Amino acid sequence: MANLRVLIADEDLDSRVSMKRAVARAELDLVGETGYGTEAVSLALEARPDVIFVAVEEPAARPLDTADGLANALPDTPIIIYSSAGDAESVRRGMIFGARDYLVKPVESSRIRDAIGVALNQEERRQMRRAGQLSAVHGRGSVITVAGAKGGIGKSVVSTNLAVALRQETGRSVVIIDADTQFGDVATMLDLLPDVTVGDLVKQRGDVDRSMVRQFVTTHAATGVDVLAASEEEDAWDGCSLDDVKRLIDLYAQVYDFVIVDTAGAMDAFVRACIETSTLSLVVSSGDVSAVRDTAAAVRRLDKWGVHPDRVRFVLNAGSHDQGINADEMAEAIGREVFWTVPHDRAVIDSVQVGQPLVLRGGKAKAAQSLTMLARRIGGKSGASDTQSTSEPFWRRVLPARGPAMRGTGDDDTGLEPVVETVDRGR
Ligand SMILES: Nc1ncnc2c1ncn2[C@@H]1O[C@H](COP(=O)(O)OP(=O)(O)OP(=O)(O)O)[C@@H](O)[C@H]1O
Ligand SMILES: [Mg+2]
Repeated sequence: MANLRVLIADEDLDSRVSMKRAVARAELDLVGETGYGTEAVSLALEARPDVIFVAVEEPAARPLDTADGLANALPDTPIIIYSSAGDAESVRRGMIFGARDYLVKPVESSRIRDAIGVALNQEERRQMRRAGQLSAVHGRGSVITVAGAKGGIGKSVVSTNLAVALRQETGRSVVIIDADTQFGDVATMLDLLPDVTVGDLVKQRGDVDRSMVRQFVTTHAATGVDVLAASEEEDAWDGCSLDDVKRLIDLYAQVYDFVIVDTAGAMDAFVRACIETSTLSLVVSSGDVSAVRDTAAAVRRLDKWGVHPDRVRFVLNAGSHDQGINADEMAEAIGREVFWTVPHDRAVIDSVQVGQPLVLRGGKAKAAQSLTMLARRIGGKSGASDTQSTSEPFWRRVLPARGPAMRGTGDDDTGLEPVVETVDRGR
């Protein structure tokens, strides 16, 4: 597991030892420890941590100077101060000197993870804002990329059913972006004949802003789910840089509460761009030995890309192989928890044939119940997220729920908080 890399600047050795313990408990990698001054700055420049913790005690001048120097040297790296002083003036002073958060001792590992989550979220948003990717006034919907290491493992079945179930369960606005660069079949699975496709959007990408993104979708009349359909042209995405891909997805997230991105069976640079701009990614595998083996390789690739494990969930879609590997075996093989299992169900095959998502076809089918529960688990039930505020940090929204590993059997309510929460921007 690629842990976040942390550097500690603290001259009090006892305090440093406690902090190191808390960092270890929070499952972060300590990449350096140092005192204050230039030593701290040069070590940080060399180690390039994801986050820097600076202890600030009286007399505070030197540690605060160090925080300031670190903020200047590594402006994109969040600095978090920890201190035994919790009064408002000390906190204010810490923030002025470049800290993103301020923790009061004793520092617990859970607080560390929360603080890092918030700090990295803010940093990400700051960078996106700088790149013009975030609107300052509009909240961003949840982007969920459905990916997988192979074709034919049920990504599009999961994407379409998840989209429809999210719409039904939450009543919020949902768009599916068919980002399968080969042969996208989301429109077919919803029995749609689109007049506009992703190709039209890509051609106009330079001029498109958030007010225009609805022009490129086709609405699924029965549910109100919108679809940015794939093009039949093989060059539909040509000329679209990875930054363009991220920007286009983000434009949809400015307009819709949920953006589901269906991808091709590859973990390539394109899918990476989708994942990097997502709130959460579902990596689907069938129970085939080869699919699970490829999923294990996908885990390593995600680590190499620096995708935080909290932003990815693994889904075992039993697909057409009910004799395949089970969730425990898959978890062991990939070294990650299996978040959800969609059972094998003939009704899925029929639903694909007729272009009607299974979750629309009544409640009996096992897979339908499982996919509906998955949507509830991800998005919450109707009304459940009405109290959410737009300031809820993205990172907190995707932190793993406290509770047992979820296995979506479809026959019980999870009773847990949704994995992602949304902002309500009205429709
Ligand atoms: N849970 C399931 N039970 C039974 N059959 C399933 C299930 N999930 C998927 N299938 C079958 O597998 C087929 C392939 O699924 P799907 O098109 O979603 O895969 P995909 O990963 O999107 O493939 P591609 O990468 O080619 O787009 C479906 O048409 C359906 O017949
Ligand atoms: Mg597909």
